[in-house]
Amino acid sequence: MKTAITEMFGIEHPIIQGGMHYVGFAEMAAAVSNAGGLGIITGLTQGTPEKLANEIARCKDMTDKPFGVNLTILPTLTPPDYPGLVKAIIEGGVKVVETAGRNPVDLLPPLKDAGIKVIHKCTSVRHSLKAQDIGCDAVSVDGFECGGHPGEDDVPNFILLPRAADELEIPFVSSGGMADGRSLVASLAMGAQGMNMGTRFIATKEAPVHENVKQAILAASELDTRLVMRPLRNTERVLNNAAVERLIEKEKALGDAITFQDIVAEVAGVYPSIMMEGEMDKGAWSCGMVAGLIHDIPTCKELIDRIMLQAEEIIARMQAMARA
Ligand SMILES: Cc1cc2nc3c(=O)[nH]c(=O)nc-3n(C[C@H](O)[C@H](O)[C@H](O)COP(=O)(O)O)c2cc1C
Repeated sequence: MKTAITEMFGIEHPIIQGGMHYVGFAEMAAAVSNAGGLGIITGLTQGTPEKLANEIARCKDMTDKPFGVNLTILPTLTPPDYPGLVKAIIEGGVKVVETAGRNPVDLLPPLKDAGIKVIHKCTSVRHSLKAQDIGCDAVSVDGFECGGHPGEDDVPNFILLPRAADELEIPFVSSGGMADGRSLVASLAMGAQGMNMGTRFIATKEAPVHENVKQAILAASELDTRLVMRPLRNTERVLNNAAVERLIEKEKALGDAITFQDIVAEVAGVYPSIMMEGEMDKGAWSCGMVAGLIHDIPTCKELIDRIMLQAEEIIARMQAMARA
């Protein structure tokens, strides 16, 4: 399938694996890219520019297809070494960067000078337009359904995607709630040029996470995610577990007086134990409502081939319906 996104990123299928903390290692990105999608290494998981450079080199050993790096821009007092991470990306010869979080304007000049395409992930039309204004090449439009940070507007993709299509001039992909060929065709129908998936890619054979994480996604339904940290205006959609229930109790008890310090035990530094050791109740971890649509653990190639086949069948069926 050829779309503005496959052309822009030099990929076979319009499917992107969004950056995921402690999931987006070289193994994940290479598996998605080898299957014809765009795999993405998560920059901040690597921590330092040296470790990111090493991860990029490992990924290049596993694939000769294009892959990207995610740079999530967090509101923190001690920011990561973003200029160093950008340097590692440029020197590593990476051709695509997915930015997310705050406005990426400060990172753009060196990336653009190096000919790198930048896709910014945002959860609203106004942020998408801002990304277009500052020179991003594409946008990943992340609806309220998404795993991770859906923003504070709570607009689901059935509204957000056509709204983005009405306003944007640069290409965009859908993100949040995407799982199969139905998701892809619906995204294209609503004006997207492809789709981004997070949670679905965790439940694949190659995802370098503990088996417990994959089984937790399979066991979950669309009713099993919770929104946390809304009082801090840092809303995150996570899979419910004992730590999340404790966190929600604290949010109820403390109300608007809650601070980050009150929930450190549930949210800070919990990803390595969850993703690597499979300690599923250790803390809050991002997961989308799309868990309700995930029932197996295919390889990335099986998953992407299946999505493309189903999408083609749906399009053919619709063409026949339109002609009848
Ligand atoms: C476990 C997990 C970790 C994530 N970590 C990040 C991250 O570090 N940076 C980022 O930009 N997005 C992150 N995301 C969001 C994904 O890139 C993607 O936008 C989202 O998962 C799409 O929604 P879906 O899960 O319904 O497919 C994460 C998502 C999950 C499920």
